[in-house]
Amino acid sequence: MPQCLICQAQFEPFISFGKMPIANGFLSADQFTDEYFFELKAGFCQNCNMVQLTEQPDREMMFHQDYAFFSSTSTRMGIHFRQFAELVIKDYLKSSDPFVVELGSNDGIMLQNFAGAGIRHLGIEPSANVAQVAIEKGIATICEFFDEALAKRIVQEHGQADAILAANVMCHIPYLHSVAAGIRALLKPDGVLIFEDPYLGDIVEKTSYDQIYDEHAFYFSAASISYLFQQYGMEVIDVMPQNVHGGSMRYVIAHKAKKRISPAVAAQRSKEKQLGLDRRQTFEQLRRNIESCRRELMELLTRLREHRKRIVGYAATSKSTTVTNYCEITADLVEFISDTTPIKQGKYSPGTHIPVRPYHEFADNFPDYALLFGWNHAKEIFAKEQEFTKAGGKWIVYVPKVKVLE
Ligand code: SAH
Ligand code: TMP
Ligand code: ZN
Repeated sequence: MPQCLICQAQFEPFISFGKMPIANGFLSADQFTDEYFFELKAGFCQNCNMVQLTEQPDREMMFHQDYAFFSSTSTRMGIHFRQFAELVIKDYLKSSDPFVVELGSNDGIMLQNFAGAGIRHLGIEPSANVAQVAIEKGIATICEFFDEALAKRIVQEHGQADAILAANVMCHIPYLHSVAAGIRALLKPDGVLIFEDPYLGDIVEKTSYDQIYDEHAFYFSAASISYLFQQYGMEVIDVMPQNVHGGSMRYVIAHKAKKRISPAVAAQRSKEKQLGLDRRQTFEQLRRNIESCRRELMELLTRLREHRKRIVGYAATSKSTTVTNYCEITADLVEFISDTTPIKQGKYSPGTHIPVRPYHEFADNFPDYALLFGWNHAKEIFAKEQEFTKAGGKWIVYVPKVKVLE
């Protein structure tokens, strides 16, 4: 039986999605034969309430010099991170020469706001190609994986941090104990760690199972995060739900007894109990909901194909890798996936090998249906794709329910 990466208790996975490739591993045809696969399984630890993968590829297979995810491809996320930075500057940087560290700083989407304001900052970003984009923007960046050893080196070279930030990266790191110990060392006595990740409550409520893929080792809740950080003399002092990436949670963590704890923390924890995030049955139900979602989506796509409708995927997200592989959606159902990221264009989707094409191929020749793989960016996408619907095109969504939008 797998062992919990947080508390070492044993648990049975509640779902297997079967054989999965690297979610961001867009590839060329000559790479098909030696594509890497592993079994994607998720489990719930009854003891510490952490939901997690039971197997994960080595980190170097996911984060490297050809990493395909550039944060700045989404304008909405650009605005989100500017507001995040403004909140940090207003509420948490009170010292005279504050120092901000960001883990997983990618192409600098967050730190550019600190650099622009002349604030001392440091990004930690192991994927060299995205780190390089940040460096070219003038953002101080170390191209390494964050862990306890690196944290201690940063303290020696730069001193402790007033704020440590992380977005969509804490949940990527299976060695969270080393990260938590590193944060304890790097954070000033009155500093704060502020991080956000897709929220388990949203995944359960919306059956957004496509959040489950290789990079996401963990699916956090206020309960599991509290359990982890209390072991390092830290505590959750605030939680703030975020309307990005299909529902995220921002956690504010401080050294114990240093800051006032917002009533939002206890309120969130009791909400989690009501939602059943502390019970295995909740995840058994989630599995049944995921299975229904797959069945309904495949029935819809198969029916449309029988009616000779053209279906194109919209946005080659990492999440789409779970959906296409688990549901077995291949190029006979979805003609191609349109995506704006140059590094993905001309390649094929991981595992299912659906061609990924530049956006203009969608815009120049609208299909009958667009399967919205980028559902978490729906608002931004619907706003700019009014021509598609005016021309009679229809959107297919599968979160929270499989549906053709009329
Ligand atoms: N913060 C950005 C990027 C999220 S993608 C955003 O929200 O858009 C996750 C990023 O974390 C990737 O760029 C990846 O290279 C990086 N990463 C993975 N493991 C890491 C680690 N141990 N320390 C720091 N960054 C890491
Ligand atoms: P994400 O959901 O993991 O953030 O992935 C975003 C992907 O979606 C990225 O490859 C860019 C693509 N995309 C588009 O192709 N068009 C769009 O309008 C948006 C918002 C994203
Ligand atoms: Zn556990």
